[in-house]
Amino acid sequence: MPHRPTVVLGTGSYAPARVMTNDDLSRIVETSDEWIQSRSGIRERRIAADDELSSDLAVRAAQSALENAGLTAADIDLLIIATVTPDLPMPATACIVQHKLGIPTHAACFDLNAACSGFLYALDTASAMISSGRRQKALVIGVEKLSSVVDWKDRTTCVLFGDGAGAVVLGAGDDPTRGVLGVNLGADGSNTDLLYIPRAVPATPANAASPEQPTSCIRMKGKEVFKIAVRAMDESARDILEQHKVTADQISLVIPHQANLRIIAAISEYLELPMDRFFVNVDRYGNTSAASIPLALDEARRAGRIQPGQLILLVAFGAGLTYGSALIRW
Ligand code: UT7
Repeated sequence: MPHRPTVVLGTGSYAPARVMTNDDLSRIVETSDEWIQSRSGIRERRIAADDELSSDLAVRAAQSALENAGLTAADIDLLIIATVTPDLPMPATACIVQHKLGIPTHAACFDLNAACSGFLYALDTASAMISSGRRQKALVIGVEKLSSVVDWKDRTTCVLFGDGAGAVVLGAGDDPTRGVLGVNLGADGSNTDLLYIPRAVPATPANAASPEQPTSCIRMKGKEVFKIAVRAMDESARDILEQHKVTADQISLVIPHQANLRIIAAISEYLELPMDRFFVNVDRYGNTSAASIPLALDEARRAGRIQPGQLILLVAFGAGLTYGSALIRW
């Protein structure tokens, strides 16, 4: 099998039209714009319509990524969707999106759950399949409809999350110095209780006929998660820089998982890299989990913040607890 570089051929994103501001939230729970902005940097988030599913958001992001790549759905032979909010537990949202987009049946299509690090896990998986020559063109999408799993009575979590989608099209390049240079992934399953979505009441023969449908919402111990997030993202970023013999100041742009502006600021301080080298859009979208990095990547590219030849660092952290980083020579 050949080893060839994996390059980003196009990026795209989509966010639902409805904007929910901090003031809107203060009418639902006891909170304030001042508290949310000062603790998280979030000003507003997008909320999908009731009939707008993760697959719908994913399709829109994918269409814009394919257009940017100058390709069509017919060219794709691998589709990976990173999400914790699939349309259904079964089948995979990737199969639903495959059908909606018209991706051929010889394409491999599957979902992947690594929470907020999901896009990096999917990027690594797709890169390996392209670099090995097993697949030719991949569509990797991070998408979430977190508004459907947020507890709208819990002010400690509902103010933080939002809906959105981001996508990249990957293919094989011919310059070994360009493309996805490496991805670092890790997980620590000893802390699953810090951030999780419990199952609704499990189905048993005894409760099968029960009309009660308890909702299943995000539960998070924010303070603990914050501390581990900063440490894990800092370490993961340092590791990948060291592996590739790159110093932080050689990075043109860091695209961190957008969970909290204070987390991003702490990483900026630890890496001794000024905040103007970090792309930030958490103020407009909140935390969109697996969608956060590809959504930010697309916005950064469209804003002209990413130029050919530049080194881009992606770094994420999420439930699992999972973490990871990726180095891309654009
Ligand atoms: O995607 C990766 C996973 N998620 C994260 O990375 C999130 C990580 N954690 C965080 O971002 C922060 O911990 C939060 C933003 C969640 C919270 O910030 P904090 O500075 O750690 O605040 P806290 O939890 O210590 O809460 C401080 C106070 C508490 O009141 P008392 O106990 O001091 O009287 C809370 O009850 O703020 C109160 N509080 C609120 N007040 C107004 C909590 N949520 C709210 C709220 N509005 N929405």
